[in-house]
Amino acid sequence: MKINLHVVAATFSIFLSASFLASQEAHAPSSGLALTPPMGWNSWNKFACNVSEDLIKGTADAMVKSAMKDAGYEYIVIDDCWQVSRDANSNIVADPERFPHGMKAVGDYIHSVGLKFGIYSDAGSKTCQGRPGGLGHEYQDAIQYAAWGVDYLKYDWCNTTTQDAKASYANIRAALDASGRSIVLSICEWGTAKPWLWGKEVGGNLWRSTADISDKWEGSTKWPDGSCCSDGMLVNLDLQVGLASYAGPGHWNDPDMLEVGNGGMTDTEYRSHFSLWSILAAPLIAGNDLRNMRPEIQNILTNKEVIAVDQDSLGREGERVGKDGNLEVWAKQLKDGSRAVVLFNRGGTEEKITAAWDALGYPDHLAASVRDLWQHKDLGKFTGKFSSSVASHGVVMVSVKP
Ligand code: GLA
Repeated sequence: MKINLHVVAATFSIFLSASFLASQEAHAPSSGLALTPPMGWNSWNKFACNVSEDLIKGTADAMVKSAMKDAGYEYIVIDDCWQVSRDANSNIVADPERFPHGMKAVGDYIHSVGLKFGIYSDAGSKTCQGRPGGLGHEYQDAIQYAAWGVDYLKYDWCNTTTQDAKASYANIRAALDASGRSIVLSICEWGTAKPWLWGKEVGGNLWRSTADISDKWEGSTKWPDGSCCSDGMLVNLDLQVGLASYAGPGHWNDPDMLEVGNGGMTDTEYRSHFSLWSILAAPLIAGNDLRNMRPEIQNILTNKEVIAVDQDSLGREGERVGKDGNLEVWAKQLKDGSRAVVLFNRGGTEEKITAAWDALGYPDHLAASVRDLWQHKDLGKFTGKFSSSVASHGVVMVSVKP
């Protein structure tokens, strides 16, 4: 038998480089991050540009005191407007009035109470609020963020002109990894270039699948400059249909941050918002003032049974499995084989909604225990289906366990 040594050598070297790359990937500082959807708080929804050291420290304290830390919230993320310029060496400069002790001091404080530090920048020349962006400074900024103790970077998409989205996010991921620090990468390009198709490949841990959420139930409004959009909660919810297969441990669809507690929706609507984001395995990033929360809002944000659905280690995103006009059934498979189910009534009057077992992937004859995750109550055994009346704009959320 004649052996072609060139082929053997080439095969061997392909094998070597493939295993070298695989081992490099396995040891990248970002491997193993966000195995469940990230949980935390972000300044934007409530405070916009009104960020400061006091706000961030107060929020970190409140996250601990309000039992949110205990419920799993971890990242405190400062969104746009913390930065004002670049210095003579092009280093990014934080607002000296709003952050008088600098960003490392902020990060140190957040870490001192057992939480993690997130920050915001933009893949273009400027952020959405016109502050200095990251373009051309990716490696320099990544080193700076690592030195400040940053654990999470939200990277926006304003002022990117002709940039390629996939290449831009791959570049910042490489820069973050080169810093040597484990940093979650939150891709914020609003779903424009379908980041669910490439977000995982470039090392993104979550990617926005929608335009910006706003604190309202429905409807979509263009920004004053004609660009798109400020969306009601239902708009962002509906945009998740069809995306479930792209999510999994380490890489999540992000229908945008929570508006729970910001005042534009009723508590019933906020309970629906929180339940639906949890069934979607969405990142749970609170966006309200944690220092001044009504108990009803705190109860929503810290419902451990609902959070457990979001954080289930199987990492399946739930899907809409039934729709009849305004009445919907959403379901999510959980690690132990059970299902979390949301009966959702978008309409204006109370209605009865039924989840049939076959829509959940169960045989009709199966008997399963049903537990109400908002009332914290076992409802008994049901065969073939479970029905409940559901308030207008409300949900009934249950687990169904064979
Ligand atoms: C964009 C993002 C928002 C927020 C603002 C800040 O609109 O989508 O989430 O970060 O920028 O300017």
